[in-house]
This record gives sequence, C-alpha cells and structure tokens, in this order.
Amino acid sequence: MRRTIDWDEDAVVIIDQCALPGAFSTLRLRTVDELIDAIRRLAVRGAPALGAAGALGTAMSALRHGADHAAVEADAKRLAEARPTAVNLSWGVRRALAKLPEGGQAVLVEAKAVLDEDETANRQASARAAEAILDRCARRPLRLLTHCNAGRLATVGWGTALGVVWHLHTAGHVEYVFADETRPLLQGARLTAWELAQAGVPYRVLPDSAAATAMARGLIDCVVVGADRIAANGDVANKIGTYPLALAAARHGLPFFVVAPESTVDRTLPGGEHIVIEERSAAEVTEFGGRRVAPDDAAVFNPAFDVTPADLITAVVTDQGILPLA
Ligand code: MRU
Repeated sequence: MRRTIDWDEDAVVIIDQCALPGAFSTLRLRTVDELIDAIRRLAVRGAPALGAAGALGTAMSALRHGADHAAVEADAKRLAEARPTAVNLSWGVRRALAKLPEGGQAVLVEAKAVLDEDETANRQASARAAEAILDRCARRPLRLLTHCNAGRLATVGWGTALGVVWHLHTAGHVEYVFADETRPLLQGARLTAWELAQAGVPYRVLPDSAAATAMARGLIDCVVVGADRIAANGDVANKIGTYPLALAAARHGLPFFVVAPESTVDRTLPGGEHIVIEERSAAEVTEFGGRRVAPDDAAVFNPAFDVTPADLITAVVTDQGILPLA
C-alpha cells in the first residue's frame, strides 16, 4: 500500500482519510494553508502521520520562502499549532526547522528522514509489543480490542497498535479484533475496520459503549491502543474513550498495552494533567451523517482526547523499549 503521507516533486500527497472507506483517493497539497486545512479536517491524522505532516509542511515552506526565514518560522508555528494534543506534530516541525540555516533542500532531506524513520520505529515498537502480549496472555489465538485508528493510516506506514495485529496475525496468533467504532468521528468503524478488512484479519465493529460488555462476556484477552502524547510518568493521551476502556480492562483483569514511536513521548511534561486536550466543534456531536440529531440549542462537551493514568496501563511500548511505569 502507498504511504499515508509522502512528498512528490513539489507537494505533500496524502491518502484522503475523510473519503475512506467509501473511496480510496489522494489529495495533492501545494501550500501550507492547504496542509493545515487537511490536518484540521482529519484528512491526515494520527500522531505519527502528523509528525510527518509537520516536517513536510515546514520543508514546503522553506523551499517556497528561500532566505525569508521569518516567513518559514511563521508557517512552522501555524503548522505546529494546527492540532495541540499529538506531540509528534510540533516534534516533526521542530526537527525540520532545525535544518533551516542549511537551506530549503536540507529541510526537505530532514523531513524525508522523519518519514523513513517512522515506519522503522513503528515496526520495532509493534514487534516488541507483540512479544510482550504473547508473554502476558496465555490464550491462543488471541482476541484483541483496539480503539480509534492506530494503523497504517495513522502513521507513514505499518501502524502502532494495528502494527501489533499485523505481527500477531502473520504468526497465526489472532482469532479476531474488536474495533471500537470511536465516537464521534468513527475512526474505528471507518478506518480500522477498512484496514483489518484489507489485511484479511477477522474483526467486529462495536459501539464504544459495548466494550465493557464484551470484556464482561469473556470475549477479549487484551486491549492494545496507540497514543498521541505520553508524559514522563507514563500517563497517556489518546483518542477520547481510551480512559474508560482502561478502567473497564482493569475491572476485568485484562492487560492494557499502549504502543507508540519514541517521538510520541514528551518528557518535558511530568504528568498527563499538563497535556493540552483539543476541543473540537459542537457539530461533530450534534450532527450525524450531516443530519442534526440534538436540539438546536444543545450545549456540547467534545474533547478529542482523554488521559489514561499510568497505573491503569500494563505497559507503554516504544521502539526504544518498554517504559518503566510508576
Ligand atoms: O483525532 P485523531 O484521529 O488524529 O486521533 C488519533 C488517535 O487518537 C490515535 O489513537 C493516535 O494518534 C495513535 S496513532 C498511531
């Protein structure tokens, strides 16, 4: 499969995740404004893919503005702030921007390196997590539950939590995957289910609110999710609905694994309470499929992410190792 995000001649090319699963199409983004719009609309999304977007967007600006470093720095700031929670976005921007004194081509070379390293890091992290899960769970084949989309589409390639599924499935260790639909934007139902179907992995989509019932009925052996930002103490910000999943897993004695590249770890933050959580528009909740479902004057609470405390997490696994959790 092609990369989720890549550089082609003078543009950033992304798989349009707003069009999936109905259509597999790409978008060619030629300006920083177009890229920022795609990030905000979640046409490109998922923490590692956002890291790549930040780096490539900075390169696009550096190539366009030449010696006007102030203009590039202004673009870089706007890119980094397009979505606040996934630390990879500002990390990717910073990494590319550091090469600005060497010129636009050097910035592009660095951005391309971010893309190349992403797939390698995610393969390593997910292979390590697959081993840890096999050590921890006796049952074969395994019945896994995941939330949101932490697959190829959330990264440049391969995936994190779904990367674990690819490793385990190849080894014949997966009976099925339960994919939370992931309200309100349905990354699980639209994207994870699509990826699992493409890979021939048996799966079931379930409402987020049915996950605890699936656990209570003994249908799940292990939960595995990705992350948007991991604080120094191992608290994890991930898609809204991850925290209740961890609570339910703890209640049922099920292991709860988080898998991410090292670029998702933010050691500048001592704990999860410092992570900025993106609030998204009310319409994502009051409308469904373009149709209004809540009263006109309904007030809305729509945080895009939540924070799972480290003490509910069995292990945070990255390409560098397994984080010691307090
Ligand atoms: O709002 P999104 O779709 O960008 O949220 C994505 C997630 O929460 C993913 O679980 C996370 O980025 C990990 S992706 C490997």
